[in-house]
Amino acid sequence: MRSDPEPINLFEYEALAREQLAPMAYDYYASGAHDEVTLRENRAAFDHIRLRYRVLVDVSRRDLSTTVLGEPLSMPVLVGPTAFHRMAHPDGEVATARAARRAGTLMVLSTLSNSSVEEVTAAAPGPLWFQLYVYRDRGATRALVERVEAAGCRALVLTVDAPLLGRREMDVRNRFHLPPGLRIENLAGMGFGELPTEVADSGLAAYFAALLDPSLTWADVDWLCAATRLPVVIKGVVRGDDASRAIDHGVAAVIVSNHGGRQLDTSPPTIEALPEVVDAVGGQMEVLMDGGIRRGTDVVKAIGLGAKAVLLGRPALWGLAVAGEQGVSRVLELLRQEIDLAMALCGCTSPGAIQRDLIDRR
Ligand code: LAC
Repeated sequence: MRSDPEPINLFEYEALAREQLAPMAYDYYASGAHDEVTLRENRAAFDHIRLRYRVLVDVSRRDLSTTVLGEPLSMPVLVGPTAFHRMAHPDGEVATARAARRAGTLMVLSTLSNSSVEEVTAAAPGPLWFQLYVYRDRGATRALVERVEAAGCRALVLTVDAPLLGRREMDVRNRFHLPPGLRIENLAGMGFGELPTEVADSGLAAYFAALLDPSLTWADVDWLCAATRLPVVIKGVVRGDDASRAIDHGVAAVIVSNHGGRQLDTSPPTIEALPEVVDAVGGQMEVLMDGGIRRGTDVVKAIGLGAKAVLLGRPALWGLAVAGEQGVSRVLELLRQEIDLAMALCGCTSPGAIQRDLIDRR
């Protein structure tokens, strides 16, 4: 029986999760690339933004709900795609998806999940999006997309910032591999379900280098949009010109993301990249963002700078590690309460009322 007091914020969930996770799993989830400059700056950049709150607004009634690609959400927060949830808890992605559903939001299931997309949609009914990695084997990729559609997922989130895996030095030291019994279930039937175990550095980096397609271009975005009836979202954009191209290529939304600081170190913090992308898109599609969200005020800042919603990555894993589905639920509820309070104190009664005039970026 653990006697720790219940965490009261997302940082405390990380501290508790760290005590409970196997070091190889904690290091994998927590790491950023190389010197972790971007990992730190994703957070620090939020701290440097001031909120110019408005006073004497009646905030006695507040509504956090919004929509993303037409999907109603109880708050402007989705659970972002992260890999290998069964390293955190035996219930894995099913628990995370159920908690997201219970919170009135949705999860983006990773290609690299330890439960198959069919298992998750069966055990956690409700809207689900799917994060896609494109394999060199296009037949396998196409078959995966067909399964994702058949399972009822409502959008494909194509990750575009990972032609190769970023070098996370803790994973190199740990020679990262999956614990016995865990696989990449979505690819198991196609022979790509196992991470190598005997490697000189990260087994995931080796898996990426061998199997994922580093030749991806905008032509492949066209290919994917033609190959699926689902809306395609691209994740990993930090520039306005790339966002404009996404519109030209039929993409439904972009996610401003640097992969939680795990790919190119010294790439810009996402909250700083967001305004350029929002301005380039000019309202022609929805813009989401992730990276460093830990507080309700972070969410308000992202919305104020033009994001329709944010994605929460690592904190969901910390909740999962601490208490399974209940832990993820608690993390989402803590964040919801903080968003609600931050909105009230800013003089905003809904996400739509959060505008750029609230933001001071000096
Ligand atoms: C990572 C990949 C799997 O960041 O998205 O580890």
